Amino acid sequence: MGVTHARACGKVILLGEHAVVYGRPAIAVPVPSRQVEVQVRDTPPGSGTAILACDLGTRYLAGTCNVDEHGRFLLAAVEGVLRATLLHDGPHGAPRPTWPDLEIQVRSQVPIARGMGSGAAVSAAIARGVAAHLGASLSRERLSELVYATESLLHGTPSGIDNTVVAYELPVWFRQGLGAQPFAVGVPVTLVIGDTGIASRTRESVALVRRRWEADRLRLEALFDAIGDLVQRGREAIAQGDLPALGEAMDRNQALLEALDVSDPALERLIAAARRAGALGAKLSGGGKGGCMIALTVSEAAASVEAALRAAGAGDVIAARIGKSGAS
Ligand code: PMV
Repeated sequence: MGVTHARACGKVILLGEHAVVYGRPAIAVPVPSRQVEVQVRDTPPGSGTAILACDLGTRYLAGTCNVDEHGRFLLAAVEGVLRATLLHDGPHGAPRPTWPDLEIQVRSQVPIARGMGSGAAVSAAIARGVAAHLGASLSRERLSELVYATESLLHGTPSGIDNTVVAYELPVWFRQGLGAQPFAVGVPVTLVIGDTGIASRTRESVALVRRRWEADRLRLEALFDAIGDLVQRGREAIAQGDLPALGEAMDRNQALLEALDVSDPALERLIAAARRAGALGAKLSGGGKGGCMIALTVSEAAASVEAALRAAGAGDVIAARIGKSGAS
């Protein structure tokens, strides 16, 4: 058999991170210019399932004991597909996958640990690739569930927003329990993403917010409510094509994320630079404490916002656009 290719893209959260873990809505958009690419090929009988994480220069072989946390995460995506497509065996309804003889190469342009959903994108691309190679079909709903299950290994308590936006590849308004809700886009929205270059582990920032919530539930619930209101306002602004109102919602969301203590000086330096260069609004995106920020601009100002972010020390600058028919 030949080689099967599959891919998945990164994402950013426009409004509502962290509060979304506590049942408030959030808006996320795919970033098609940053992709994870996967190649799946057959290997000789008895080889088992191997995953080659090309960017890390690491090879993981399923069922062996030298598999670290990262390898377990990658292999969980394969196992999820095997279970979902019933290509497994095992006694008494306790399925245990028979690892097929495959080599899965993974290459990612989605920066790791920067709030761009790299974990969700990697597991979605692996799941798509393995399913296609084995001739199995995987609905977007099933893919989203499967990516959620692998994300839970990394994050503990993911809200479900990353797997949803990555599986559907559509801008979504998301609330736990309601799944993906597409929303109206009145005018195209231009975003510029700036990477602080600082790795941030979502699990840690989510745990930090959990500790703050446990210490003062009243205050944190009020902050989450205020963020939820901004998400609603942002959704209306996008539908009406009111970009200044969307920018204002983003700025206010950033202030609330600072109050939650998930921002940091490197993010705030980039956010301030973007605003000075004419961005309509800017905020951190994802878990925070490093990672990426996003700025909203009119398309004519995008180049100067990009230049300002680079001058302020952004390691990488990425443009993303939400058109009336999706992201590009
Ligand atoms: O850092 P990312 O890209 O995994 O985004 C996390 C978003 C949070 O709201 C902080 C967590 C979640 O599960 O929704």
